[in-house]
Amino acid sequence: MTNTLTVLGLESSCDDTAAAIVRYSGAGPEVLSSVVWGQNELHADFGGVVPEIAARAHAERLDICVERALDQAGLGLAAVDAIAVTSGPGLIGGVLSGVMCAKGLSVGSGKPLIGVNHLAGHALTPRMTDSVAFPYLMLLVSGGHCQFLAVHSEDHFKRLGGTIDDAPGEAFDKTAKLLGLGYPGGPLVEQEALTGDANRFKLPRPLLDRPGQDMSFSGLKTALRRARDVLVAEKGGLTRQDRADLCAGFQLAVSDTLGEKTRRACLVFRDGVDVTQPVLAVAGGVAANTVIRNRLQQVADETGFKFLAPPLKFCTDNAAMIAWAGLERFRQGHCDDLTLAARPRWPLDREAAPMLGSGKKGAKA
Ligand code: KG4
Ligand code: ZN
Repeated sequence: MTNTLTVLGLESSCDDTAAAIVRYSGAGPEVLSSVVWGQNELHADFGGVVPEIAARAHAERLDICVERALDQAGLGLAAVDAIAVTSGPGLIGGVLSGVMCAKGLSVGSGKPLIGVNHLAGHALTPRMTDSVAFPYLMLLVSGGHCQFLAVHSEDHFKRLGGTIDDAPGEAFDKTAKLLGLGYPGGPLVEQEALTGDANRFKLPRPLLDRPGQDMSFSGLKTALRRARDVLVAEKGGLTRQDRADLCAGFQLAVSDTLGEKTRRACLVFRDGVDVTQPVLAVAGGVAANTVIRNRLQQVADETGFKFLAPPLKFCTDNAAMIAWAGLERFRQGHCDDLTLAARPRWPLDREAAPMLGSGKKGAKA
């Protein structure tokens, strides 16, 4: 790939409306602009994403984000080579808003249209930020996703395990809701946990007693609710310390589970490929958690992997990753037409058995 390519990306599969311009030239990938318009304030009262509210906001904001992304890059639509859009998986109303907007832009400008799998966007991010070579191991860990992927090419992903029910970010959000903290819960639970005793409550480490890399987080949330209910029954409410101890215990249980399953995924990945310096990369909002991040770094050190966490703004939902994934597909000759469909479910690994459960944003694995 030596020719310069410039791609506009659109993202609207969950609760962030985003547009970005990414360019690839001989000098490597460059993010010319990345605009993200989050919706936390629209969903905060509900403690989670409300699909109808999200879809309406995307429809209202997408073209504004596109204009800003072009402005910030100092480009007009005529200067882009292709338009990439998340066409699944995700909340269908939001995905439809993005696909319709991209189709309109494509028809109006005559530029090629490329549908991108949102999970591929996350999974290919380390190539945009750190020029990582294939293959590498990816842990996607956010509010809607949790899976290990061996990334072999821009179109070949092998799932090495994932959650069978909730995603960890979803469990953080539900924990925050149970304890009367705000939304999104992850950063608030992490903050509370700083002053907590992680060993006061004995919370489960689900599926650690079973072989393999699959995970489960819904039982952990139930155990936390029980521990809270016992305290409330005994004392009529929670003290500040009770809340901090519950948060710390919960965070440690997630970290222990993710750490051990990641260790196993590293071993399985290393056995299946021939690379001198294997790479473990992480993406998703939960990767912002310092305790979890440190645990993953430790696991990488122990198993001989290089640990790579892209800057947080490219770990969480954004459109630069969609533009980049589109660019990778485009240069391999992939292109879509106006029949491009919005897909609520779209597993990356076409051969893996479907996962059992579903996250708050619908089953994404
Ligand atoms: O990747 P992301 O922005 O959106 C998707 O879910 O796709 O991730 C958001 C999730 C939320 O569930 C949020 O609670 C969680 O990431 N999160 C965290 C932290 N920061 C965000 N979880 C644990 N600790 C954090 N510091
Ligand atoms: Zn995402």
